[in-house]
Amino acid sequence: MKRILITGGAGFIGSHVVKHFVKKYPGYTIFNLDKLTYAGNLANLTEIEQYSNYQFLKEDIVDLNALRVIIKDKSITDIIHLAAESHVDRSISDPTSFVVTNVIGTTNLLIAARDAWKEINFHGRFYHVSTDEVYGSLGEDGYFTETTAYDPRSPYSASKASSDHFVRAFHHTYGMDTVISNCSNNYGPYQFPEKLIPLIINNAIHQRSLPVYGLGLNVRDWLWVEDHVLAIDLIFHQASAGQTYNIGGQSEMKNIDLVYLICDCIDRKLNRLSGTTRKLIQYVKDRPGHDLRYAINFSKISNELHWNPTVTIEEGIEKTIDWYLLNEDWLKEVTSGEYMKYYQKHYSNH
Ligand code: NAD
Ligand code: DAU
Repeated sequence: MKRILITGGAGFIGSHVVKHFVKKYPGYTIFNLDKLTYAGNLANLTEIEQYSNYQFLKEDIVDLNALRVIIKDKSITDIIHLAAESHVDRSISDPTSFVVTNVIGTTNLLIAARDAWKEINFHGRFYHVSTDEVYGSLGEDGYFTETTAYDPRSPYSASKASSDHFVRAFHHTYGMDTVISNCSNNYGPYQFPEKLIPLIINNAIHQRSLPVYGLGLNVRDWLWVEDHVLAIDLIFHQASAGQTYNIGGQSEMKNIDLVYLICDCIDRKLNRLSGTTRKLIQYVKDRPGHDLRYAINFSKISNELHWNPTVTIEEGIEKTIDWYLLNEDWLKEVTSGEYMKYYQKHYSNH
């Protein structure tokens, strides 16, 4: 039976992936390896921490020796790699930590897996979870496909593009069984409130100003996180070695329209007069090098693996707001201390 190492499983998407695999596949053993940076939170995993097929390992993917020991001692058969520095704004103020974790960490994980698995003819699968931002920025028209040339434009996307290249290089050079998916913006429960949707929800609940970069005209394609998890499950089990799949939400929106959608939903949920929360919107200085638009053509995964997004942005935003309203303690916990320092430093520059 499979013994899967999932990295970054205490983060937003990773915690949904871990919970899904632990519950759906009782015959698999799931090892969640996470350094627990500011973005990692074991409270995201309470519902499965007692499961006998689950184990947490606090470790850094940059530590090659530790990775070698874990892969050997735990007899790891496959890896689903999500650990990363993931926030574009943080990559602008501190690019080096993105190179260290996303490039060196990914490469060390590849090396450790390659060396452990060469005795078994590289039967283990290495699944790298990546982003649509590697393709750069679109104008008003067009979509990213799996063959769009890489054109990363932020330190975050440059580091993810580099890690994708290393994964492909290990497939071609050493014959490792690798797969990659490049996904659009995720949202849903347990997302750390540095990202647009949970940040706006948190501020709106507490009647604080809602920072919109530039004119709010940048477009993102939003995907309900559990739809991403279903795509990861399919790709992990069914894709052939060396393949890449794009994953998108079919929910393109200008930032300002998304913020309006959240504000109006909060008005309804908290019985505020219609239009009240929109008054908190504040246009602030734009993100440097801000990519205008991301949009995904996901026909390959739709045609080959029969995956399609199932949750509309309107439904997803309502479910997300309901979750944050019900989980005020979680929100309070992650927004105390360090978060406030980050928030004040970052937004005082805008
Ligand atoms: P996140 O920031 O919420 O979580 C990242 C996790 O990685 C955290 O638990 C953190 O503790 C862990 N981590 C960071 N550095 C580590 C290290 N050196 N060693 C071990 N663990 C470490 O990120 P997320 O939004 O859940 O994204 C997960 C993955 O999916 C990332 O690779 C990201 O690039 C990719 N992705 C994210 C999105 C999105 O919209 N959030 C979209 C497409 C792809
Ligand atoms: O496209 C996939 C990527 O989506 C992932 O790879 C990244 O890990 C993830 O962080 C996300 O990147 P974005 O930069 O698109 O997400 P973010 O939530 O930071 O911003 C979404 C949009 O909202 C973007 O156009 C910037 C804008 N924004 C963001 C913040 C935090 C604001 O207008 N105000 C804000 O305060």
